[in-house]
Amino acid sequence: MIVLGIETSCDETGVALVRTQGDAVPVLLAQALHSQIDLHRAYGGVVPELASRDHIRRLLPLARTALADAGLGLDAIDVVAYTRGPGLAGALLVGAGFACALGAALARPVLGIHHLEGHLLSPFLSRDPPAFAFVALLVSGGHTQLMRVDDVGRYELLGETIDDAAGEAFDKAAKMMGLAYPGGPLLARLAEGGRRDAFKLPRPLLHSANLDFSFAGLKTAVMIQLRKCGDDPGEQVKADLAASTQQAIVDVLVHKSIVALEATGLDRLVVAGGVGANARLREQLNLRCAERGARVHYPEFELCTDNGAMIALAAAMRLQRGIAELRTDYGFDVRPRWPLASASGALPGVTAP
Ligand code: KG4
Ligand code: ZN
Repeated sequence: MIVLGIETSCDETGVALVRTQGDAVPVLLAQALHSQIDLHRAYGGVVPELASRDHIRRLLPLARTALADAGLGLDAIDVVAYTRGPGLAGALLVGAGFACALGAALARPVLGIHHLEGHLLSPFLSRDPPAFAFVALLVSGGHTQLMRVDDVGRYELLGETIDDAAGEAFDKAAKMMGLAYPGGPLLARLAEGGRRDAFKLPRPLLHSANLDFSFAGLKTAVMIQLRKCGDDPGEQVKADLAASTQQAIVDVLVHKSIVALEATGLDRLVVAGGVGANARLREQLNLRCAERGARVHYPEFELCTDNGAMIALAAAMRLQRGIAELRTDYGFDVRPRWPLASASGALPGVTAP
């Protein structure tokens, strides 16, 4: 079966094609992606209306590119999957509208997918795919969650941020240091030349009894340190502050991930979402997990941030298990706020064709 996947929840337009092959992990045939980072940079963040308009402009050409790269025609598509949520309402509607129009034109079913399910299954497309069950650390610009994942559609929330997401903490600290949007990767680069212990920054909820996170206080602490440094702190001080900020975020993410492994008794950790591209986070997680004999799995670097491949993959893996909520009424709906745990399992009476 061939699945077309469409991602438009935020500032990346992604289209991809995967093929299911029995019970084995589906194969990625082609993917096309357009990032809106340049479009939003001037505003220091994502402008929802501009995001929606750009998704409209990009989707059709990207879909054509993906099909051409896979050497397939439209009629090869069996199911059209799209990100149903969470995300920006207008941006999601563009993908849902496109998917439903294509599904109706081809007389193929459509399938709405949870964006975070896409992220946490994305390491299955890597050279080193995980096996179920595992703990997933989801770290993106909008989410920071630890989940217990027993299979596709079987997700249990272990803990999450009570305020800012980890990516948001990176981006906000970076903005204060005068770095362009999105600042996470730029702050990481600046941190390479800095001392990680130069500034004493808080590690919120590090030793709390639960697996929740809080990053809003870190942003305030960075601001206070910057003020102390005066108008022109100089490059080395900025690098030191970047390194200290990154280490504070990484310390909390690593510690809570280890506690989650201990609490669940599992020995596999999957890291997904944009912050999963952070080299210091990977280094520390690999080290700490190796100490306990646990394995860490990451998506391929290019699949860390938003993309269509993870949506097509999640749809294909649901189809394989007969838990796909296929629709042929094309009454597309989106869920801008949608907890992953409520997207678990199958709806009654809904099975794969
Ligand atoms: O998953 P994603 O592409 O989009 C959302 O669904 O939010 O994640 C984007 C986030 C941004 O906050 C970005 O700054 C952060 O991931 N990010 C990084 C790195 N690469 C991306 N943060 C720290 N270090 C990086 N190397
Ligand atoms: Zn994402």
